[in-house]
Amino acid sequence: RKIYSSMLPKVLLTKSLPPDSQKLLENAKDIELIQWKSDGEVQSIPREKFLEMAKGVDGILCMLTEKIDSELLDVAGPNLKVVSTMSVGYDHVDLNELRKRSISLGYTPGVLTDAVADITVLLVLAVTRRMREGIQAVENGKWRIWSPTWLLGTQLTNKTIGIVGLGRIGFATALRLKPFIGNNGKIIYSSRVEKPIASSIGATKVEFEFLIRKSDVICICCAMNEETKEMFNYEVFKKMKSNVILVNTARGGIIHQDDLCRSLSEGLFGGIGLDVTTPEPLNPNDPLLKFDKVTVIPHIGSATLETRTMMGNIAVENVLTGIRGEALPHRVDD
Ligand code: DGY
Repeated sequence: RKIYSSMLPKVLLTKSLPPDSQKLLENAKDIELIQWKSDGEVQSIPREKFLEMAKGVDGILCMLTEKIDSELLDVAGPNLKVVSTMSVGYDHVDLNELRKRSISLGYTPGVLTDAVADITVLLVLAVTRRMREGIQAVENGKWRIWSPTWLLGTQLTNKTIGIVGLGRIGFATALRLKPFIGNNGKIIYSSRVEKPIASSIGATKVEFEFLIRKSDVICICCAMNEETKEMFNYEVFKKMKSNVILVNTARGGIIHQDDLCRSLSEGLFGGIGLDVTTPEPLNPNDPLLKFDKVTVIPHIGSATLETRTMMGNIAVENVLTGIRGEALPHRVDD
């Protein structure tokens, strides 16, 4: 039995999946599942452990918290056929190194679009309406009496919304925000290519430079790559409207965070909403959190049971088809 089981393809899972997806993987026939048992949900697999457990595996089902680079791939060795990340973003994976070794990369596009767009809108509303300060006032006994001038936020009506990256999530965000801006509001977007679907909501493609100067609200909805890493920096912040609302639900690294703090201390911005930061988790003493107009939530854009289950199921299907050498249902294209 032991000898037989060691002949089965090995799948390394780096964190427990949502219950249905976990069952799907555990019930898969003819695989040996190797799983790192985390201490609840607080910890990711330590790098040393990851390197040790990856030796000789055929497939890896990982999270966005695990770096997949040449060191890991070398250690895993020639059996490795597929890396399946339970995320739509894959900036933690060195795609070139995978290509060199003909290893497929599976990801989970589409299924988290609604959840992430929802949370982007939630942050836009929370920041424009000063939700963090309001909640703090209630909890800290600073809520006195109704006053015509207390905690005044900004109305979205008639505003210009700038979407950076009109992919699935960017479009779903724009669609949700459209009713808030009314007939006289505008949606503009920046993107490498013209998106035909944009015309269905009257969104116009503009240069990035134009977008940052003209938008009242900017939503970062693009993938992080060489082009977009730290594209929001001091130079860019200085060109924005002084009361601009900036929301990032994509990747923390798209914003140069030290520059963000510097700009905040110089009085720029109407407010900031972040679901993603550098690093994650953000230290509770991070200077960013000292600014009342900054609202940070802990990378929960896709965190609904429905969405995480769909992501988990796709990640399982990707790894299982990958170890059999079949076409992945959702593969990052070469
Ligand atoms: C992803 O899938 O890349 C998201 O960041 C997870 O919420």
